[in-house]
Amino acid sequence: MNSEEIKKDFPIFKNRDITYLDSGATAQRPQCVIDAIDKFYENKNANPHRGAYELSIEATEAYENTRDKVAKFINAAHKEEVIFTKNASEALNLIAYSYGLDNLNEGDKVVISIMEHHSNLVPWQFVTKKTGSKLEYMYINENYELSEEEIKSKITENTKIVGITHVSNVLGTINNIKEIIKYAHKMGAVVIADVSQSIPHMKIDVQDLDCDFLAFSGHKMLAPLGIGVLYGKKKILNNMNPFLMGGDMIEYVYEDKTTFAPLPNKFEAGTQNVEGAVGLGAAIDYIEKIGYDTIENIEKDILSYAKSELSKLDFVETYYTPNKENHSSVISFNIKGIHPHDLATILDSEKVAIRAGDHCAQPLIRYLNLPATCRASFYMYNTKEDVDKLINALKKAYNMFAKFIK
Ligand code: ALA
Repeated sequence: MNSEEIKKDFPIFKNRDITYLDSGATAQRPQCVIDAIDKFYENKNANPHRGAYELSIEATEAYENTRDKVAKFINAAHKEEVIFTKNASEALNLIAYSYGLDNLNEGDKVVISIMEHHSNLVPWQFVTKKTGSKLEYMYINENYELSEEEIKSKITENTKIVGITHVSNVLGTINNIKEIIKYAHKMGAVVIADVSQSIPHMKIDVQDLDCDFLAFSGHKMLAPLGIGVLYGKKKILNNMNPFLMGGDMIEYVYEDKTTFAPLPNKFEAGTQNVEGAVGLGAAIDYIEKIGYDTIENIEKDILSYAKSELSKLDFVETYYTPNKENHSSVISFNIKGIHPHDLATILDSEKVAIRAGDHCAQPLIRYLNLPATCRASFYMYNTKEDVDKLINALKKAYNMFAKFIK
């Protein structure tokens, strides 16, 4: 399948005249995901894990089927290593609170990259401060990449936790997380991989990566908003305290004490987002139907076409690695003299949707010494025509502002 054919599966592109280049923020949804949610409410809605009646059992099955599907999709060794959360941020906070607070001591280090999204950064500021441990950053080089020397100089014997994004949501840099995990393990650290920006685009295999924890949001990979996944190695999750407490995560509750349910329920307090799980299951089916090979080929073509067209605009400054095998579907750019927010507004008037700002990565934007960036992010449904529309809108914006630009 090509991207023109894939686009037809997404009703929003029939209903709205839009060039959607903001899939890094959230992807659009194919009809099959929307239908799966409708069908759940029409036929199976009840509170899972609660009722002994048929409908509740079917709702439980719908929810648990997706857990099986996710476990297979990321190649987890055990289905109970898959915990549903509301998004990647909640998964990362869960790790920081339930693992970080209990396992960090004075003198320990948490090492993250300067490319982290705030959700894999702010919780570590909080937890290191609370535990008297230290937060250190791995910085990028002039190619917007982490060098081996930088990784090895920061991850040392007193590093207890490493947090690393697989793909930067600002630069599109693909980090070699497999190597980072291997090295961090040698140093005795556990590693958290944030694959929110990679799993929509490339195959993730947790056993091959050997990550201790992994987090992603469903909504960037065609699933509904409000469903995310935390993967953790069983042995580690079993030794952790729960994050949120309440219904369904307990075994026995007495007036003065409580014992907790086994995995995965221990980490899933309260009534869960079953429609989200059902939609995530349908999204996984759709991605598997298209196939990561096809997705990667489409995106490789689009990315290289976009880079080539952008390079013809001498007024556009771009920020991405020259190593094309290390670059995923995101291009950050600016036009000197036009604030990114103004540029995004002009592009919007041309019906081109991009994101502008700090992209929830303020320390990175500051490190790059930029006020903000515009960001075009691509997915399997983007076509060369979408890129042409972006380029034409950029030319228009530049022409509008040219007389004011010094
Ligand atoms: N994390 C999302 C982004 O990069 C919202 O846009």
